[in-house]
Amino acid sequence: MLILGIESSCDETAAAVVEDGRKILSNAVASQVEEHRLYGGVVPEIASRRHCEAISGIVQKALDDADTKLEEVDAIAVTYAPGLIGALLVGVNFAKGLALSAGKPLVPVHHLRSHIATNYLTYPELTPPFLCLVVSGGHTHLITVQGYTDLHVLGCTRDDAAGEAFDKAARAMGMPYPGGIELDKVAEGGNEKAYKLPRPSVDGAPFDFSFSGLKTNVVNLLHNAQQRGETVNIVDLAASYRRAVVDCLVRNTLLAAKKTGAKKLVTAGGVSANSLLRRELAARCAELGISFYCPRLSLCGDNGAMVGSQGYYEFVAGHVAGPNLNACAELSVESSPI
Ligand code: KG4
Ligand code: ZN
Repeated sequence: MLILGIESSCDETAAAVVEDGRKILSNAVASQVEEHRLYGGVVPEIASRRHCEAISGIVQKALDDADTKLEEVDAIAVTYAPGLIGALLVGVNFAKGLALSAGKPLVPVHHLRSHIATNYLTYPELTPPFLCLVVSGGHTHLITVQGYTDLHVLGCTRDDAAGEAFDKAARAMGMPYPGGIELDKVAEGGNEKAYKLPRPSVDGAPFDFSFSGLKTNVVNLLHNAQQRGETVNIVDLAASYRRAVVDCLVRNTLLAAKKTGAKKLVTAGGVSANSLLRRELAARCAELGISFYCPRLSLCGDNGAMVGSQGYYEFVAGHVAGPNLNACAELSVESSPI
């Protein structure tokens, strides 16, 4: 079965053709990162405009690259939540128009579910149930995936997402947007014990996260040093900060794995590209006899293939929308689209 997946929830306009949820036939992306970098972060209005300009070309490119005609596609899947509302609306309205004109079923896909699906594309043998740590620019969730469309949230961040915490601290350290990637590279050469930083946890909620205090700690450290005319070793600070964020992620994830008796641990989302997080989880899972899965690096960021993959499983589950489908800026990963 061929699914055309369309993604426009943030700053990538993306489309892909995926076969049976597992095989990528094409994966076309138009990134807006260079433009948003000028402003140090995503400007929602600019994102919506660029999606409008890019979407027809990207969808056509995905079909051409897959050597597939629109008539051959079985369904059109689109990210409808969560994300920047103006950005989501571009993808949803485009997909609605295309589905209506081509007479194809329209399949709404939750953005976090599709991030998880990058693992189905990376590991053909991976099937639910498993425990998943979803870490992206906007979300940090621990989720039990009972089935492809049956998900339960164990915990999530109370404030900043892990990616946001990386990006904001990186920005304070003078790195360009999106700083998480740069901070990860810089940290590789640093001493992670050089700066003492907290490992925040949430009282009474061991699976929840809190990163805003940790981020503020680093921002204050930089401001204080600047006011006193002291120099900060950015490489060591990046390494210490990355270690602190990763320690919090790993601590809660392993606790959840033990409590739920998980045999498989999966990561997903942009921050699952973080090299320390991947190394640490792989090592700890090996010690505990848990199978560890993380998406191929090229699939960690937003893309259309992940929508095509999850779209297949939603379609098989009968989750097909009508022309009244709307986009949602916020929506629980647990709620079924239809
Ligand atoms: O999943 P994603 O592409 O978009 C959202 O759905 O939010 O995640 C983007 C986030 C950004 O915050 C980016 O800095 C972060 O993922 N990121 C990383 C790394 N690569 C991307 N954070 C830490 N280390 C990385 N290697
Ligand atoms: Zn994302």
